[in-house]
Amino acid sequence: MLPLSRRTLLKGSALAGAYGLGLGLAGKVSGAFAASDPYLLEAAVTDALIDGKAPTRGMMTYRQPGGIDGAMPPTLRMTRGEAFALTFTNRLDEPTTVHWHGLRIPNGMDGVPFLTQPYIYTGDSFDYGFTPPDAGTFWYHPHCNTLEQMGRGLTGLLIVEDPNDPAFDAEIALNLRDWRLGGNSQFIEQFKPRDAAKTGTFGTVRTANWQVEPQQDLPAGGLVRLRIAATDVTRLYNLTLDGAEALIVALDGQPLPSPMPLEMAIVAPGQRLDLIIRMPDSEGQIVTLSDVRPSAPKSVASFRAVGPSLKRDLGDVPALEPNPAPAPDLSNAQQIPLLLSATAENAARDSICGTLGYSFWAINKVPWPGDSADPMAPLAELKLGQTTIFNLENVTPHAHPIHLHGMNFHVLSSSTRPVLPLISDTYLILPDEKVQLAVVADNPGDWVFHCHVIEHQKTGMTSYLRVV
Ligand code: C2O
Ligand code: CU
Repeated sequence: MLPLSRRTLLKGSALAGAYGLGLGLAGKVSGAFAASDPYLLEAAVTDALIDGKAPTRGMMTYRQPGGIDGAMPPTLRMTRGEAFALTFTNRLDEPTTVHWHGLRIPNGMDGVPFLTQPYIYTGDSFDYGFTPPDAGTFWYHPHCNTLEQMGRGLTGLLIVEDPNDPAFDAEIALNLRDWRLGGNSQFIEQFKPRDAAKTGTFGTVRTANWQVEPQQDLPAGGLVRLRIAATDVTRLYNLTLDGAEALIVALDGQPLPSPMPLEMAIVAPGQRLDLIIRMPDSEGQIVTLSDVRPSAPKSVASFRAVGPSLKRDLGDVPALEPNPAPAPDLSNAQQIPLLLSATAENAARDSICGTLGYSFWAINKVPWPGDSADPMAPLAELKLGQTTIFNLENVTPHAHPIHLHGMNFHVLSSSTRPVLPLISDTYLILPDEKVQLAVVADNPGDWVFHCHVIEHQKTGMTSYLRVV
């Protein structure tokens, strides 16, 4: 166990808040909410300063009623095993829903229009309530007109705490994403069809917590928990840290069996990375988090050591407690192929939740036509409690972060690289890779799975499973 008290943690956090740019602290809310006292969250249009030049109009954010204008969505905090209730109100002038990415919760709370709930019209509210079974770093976002709504700002962090989580000297959460802004700081078109047919369309302004290269003060010599979520609609990050050593303690919200030194970590859209950083000892020393893809490193955020050294030791960092996970029964598993490919067929259908008007991608040769009241049949029916092995194969020249709702993938093997026995809700499959992913169907309902490059999701690379 780490020789740190809660008191040290609080002192560290207060310090960070006093000197820093509010990284991960702005908009932070805590506590579990009883059904009688729900957390109130709304989606609304706002202006915000993103590129440091002029306010961007027509942004979308989540906020508490009466929340500050132009602030990024609050980081929601809940406790593993405790009921959480949230009343969501739609103050956009289009329908929306809220999806809790990575949470294994009942199907009716999953936020997928038509499949799990009606979309929420302007002015209407929807009560979400669930008990998160896993502790870790997650996030939330809409599942309706997703490219536009996420592109304009609706991506927020969600942290599920475990009362037994080890304490650190400070904690920071970073929401990494881009914006498609023109030279006048205003939104330009969210995508180009020719890019949607390749890697997806990249943003023009990169941010962490809605700020360009923010810097945060942190206690010198301290151990800092850094929670990172890639909520961008397109960008894969290859993250490195200069100026300090760090350990990876969790991926996609799920603790690693033992912490691993960070060299370079790939974090694709939808994925998360939890690090413990050992800050340098001398006041003023800078630690830089950089994205080294594809070539010239680009600074994402930096951290400055302040105060007398706390002289912590990275060697004292324990593994996080594992989350409860159903064990796959591989001897009785059914096998299902999942082929990711490009398509020439155009199946795109108009939808109240938006269509990009194109089909470029398919799963098992079928392009998903879009959200609709009469969705196609599920790709497969899984018997409740049964284990299925998905033989996922990527025959495209692009990487795809494939995300499953409501249950997790257990990574078994890959044709191209050694894999850790990870548990994850979002597996990044590389070009020409074949991978075996086991899923224990322990959560009844219709569960979508899709590529989290949103242009791929919206132009065909989506389907769903039915667990009965
Ligand atoms: Cu992050 Cu279908 O979602
Ligand atoms: Cu994709």
